[in-house]
Amino acid sequence: MHSNKILHAIALALPLAIFGCSSNPFIPSNNTSTTGNTLPSNASLKQKYADHFLVGATADSGSYITHADILKTHFSSMTTENEIKFELLQNVEGEFTFETADKMVDFAKANGMTVRGHALVWHRQSPDWLFHNAEGEPSSKEDLLAKMNNHIATVVNHFKGRVDAWDVVNESIMDNGAFRTEKEQADDQKSWWYGITGEDYIAEAFKTAHQADPQAKLFYNDYYNYIPERRQAIYEMLKGLVEKGVPVHGVGLQCHVNTERSLNPAHQSYQQTIANLEQAIQLYASLGLEVHITEMDVSIYIGGNKYEEKDFYTAGNIPEELKVKQAERYAAFFEMFRRNSDAITSVTLWGIADDNTWLSEFDSGRADFPLLFDSEHKPKKAFDAIMDF
Ligand code: GLA
Repeated sequence: MHSNKILHAIALALPLAIFGCSSNPFIPSNNTSTTGNTLPSNASLKQKYADHFLVGATADSGSYITHADILKTHFSSMTTENEIKFELLQNVEGEFTFETADKMVDFAKANGMTVRGHALVWHRQSPDWLFHNAEGEPSSKEDLLAKMNNHIATVVNHFKGRVDAWDVVNESIMDNGAFRTEKEQADDQKSWWYGITGEDYIAEAFKTAHQADPQAKLFYNDYYNYIPERRQAIYEMLKGLVEKGVPVHGVGLQCHVNTERSLNPAHQSYQQTIANLEQAIQLYASLGLEVHITEMDVSIYIGGNKYEEKDFYTAGNIPEELKVKQAERYAAFFEMFRRNSDAITSVTLWGIADDNTWLSEFDSGRADFPLLFDSEHKPKKAFDAIMDF
């Protein structure tokens, strides 16, 4: 048995031992959804995949309550969508606000879920006091690393023993394989981390997190891993860290995809094929790293608003064939995940049900329906597809 799998088996067995069978959080005690939709007694995602990997979902400060039934019934892992990001925990320097995150993590733990902490170091949703001093000049390298280390040490220590895996560094690499810098064109693409410290912040962030909680699994997380230049650059970076003995234990593949193979037909290299993603998984696993799929959703649109689609759907008018397409896409990915479950120990959906998804907020005015449960919390064709094989 792969050592990851042994840990996984222990993780699954522990709640059984602690809680006993009757209140085992991995066996749904209540199989009725919030809308009164009755599920077959064996229709639990987490049980279906228990021999392969944990199945997770992200929740936010509202949905962990409003969608609690689905979370408890189907998911063995939970990620906080925003509540553990830098600006939510330390928006004002030195003032940590853990209250909401604590409640969410406690909920997950009370229901036997593994918790993924997302994310310690990222270029977005991070306060500007990190990167600039009072005069508006860029922070010195020493200053930025000191602020980063203080944040990581405080946060990881606070959640020690409750957060099982951390996305320590999120999205350092660009599509062309270069490190993300402060010179990127769009504001939300700029990263001062690299601009100020070069690559050094990455290794240092992992070391500081490891010191704060030596038991926690530490991940590097990124997106579009199917683009060859990106995939290779992430691999090279991780290889360098592993060779230097930096405590990195795994890699997170976000996996925001759509029902087609390509994000934008104009970009032929952006092929979201199963084979391209599988190649990334196997490449990273060859470094001895554990793989988590961390943010999966399957948009029903091919691109953003600016692309070619004319039809924007509502919950009531999604064509049947699009639902089938989405279901087939989910099934194809999950089939590949299962095939690689020696390396993959966790698969997380970015959201719980279609009434609460970042994709509907991101492209404002256009509702998207990318998850396994519909806007009324009922299981969709996509759910059936990954339960059926
Ligand atoms: C990235 C981040 C997530 C989330 C999503 C969607 O993938 O890693 O934290 O913000 O974008 O917004």
